[in-house]
Amino acid sequence: MGIKIAPSILSADFSRLGEQVEMLDDGGADYIHIDVMDGHYVPNLTIGPIVIKALRSRTRLPFDVHLMMNNPMDYIDDFVDAGADIITVHAEVLPHLHGAIQQIKRRGIKAAVSLNPSTPLEVLNYVLDDLDMVLLMSVNPGFGGQQFIPAIMEKIKDLKRIICKSGLDIDIQVDGGISIDNIREIRLAGANVFVAGSAIFKSQNPKVMIKRLKEVAEGI
Ligand code: DX5
Ligand code: ZN
Repeated sequence: MGIKIAPSILSADFSRLGEQVEMLDDGGADYIHIDVMDGHYVPNLTIGPIVIKALRSRTRLPFDVHLMMNNPMDYIDDFVDAGADIITVHAEVLPHLHGAIQQIKRRGIKAAVSLNPSTPLEVLNYVLDDLDMVLLMSVNPGFGGQQFIPAIMEKIKDLKRIICKSGLDIDIQVDGGISIDNIREIRLAGANVFVAGSAIFKSQNPKVMIKRLKEVAEGI
């Protein structure tokens, strides 16, 4: 599976989000990762469909929308209408996970499920066939700038084995604490889509960092 870098705009300068998205596009990002937080599922509160819609005209890159909210099914249509290309929902909040995935797929976009660090991979049983991507959280969701949880390396390998065995074409995305120092190891464990917030935005040159992250992930 091809390597993709998905900069998280959670660490961007929110006073000039449009320019920042254009900068990421110019810098060779593959996706724009958008963290939606509702102040309930996670303590933090970020942005919703109105802001996403406003950003839509700034880039053609896919909007990778990560919903950290208690009631994602109430908002999936709004996020698709705002311009989401991939919607990721958290398995932990969904008694009807299969139904939520179908709701996303019916709108003709990609569906992904996210698992918190302590959520077992077994929750993906019986829904894997319908997924385009699985997001493994490598920090507890809510904030940028946290440390990668080492135990997740094993979880990535386990998920990679499950996906390979199934013969399905599913991306493995990892989110949280990714940097130039660990991206190669995460790649070797089996991930191919890398979310990076602070590694990109706190660097001296975000565009150069996107390029470097991709090269290091590839082993260059
Ligand atoms: C955390 C978010 C992440 C976050 C990653 O809840 O889902 O996307 O922005 O930020 P870094 O790369 O700084 O860990
Ligand atoms: Zn995220």
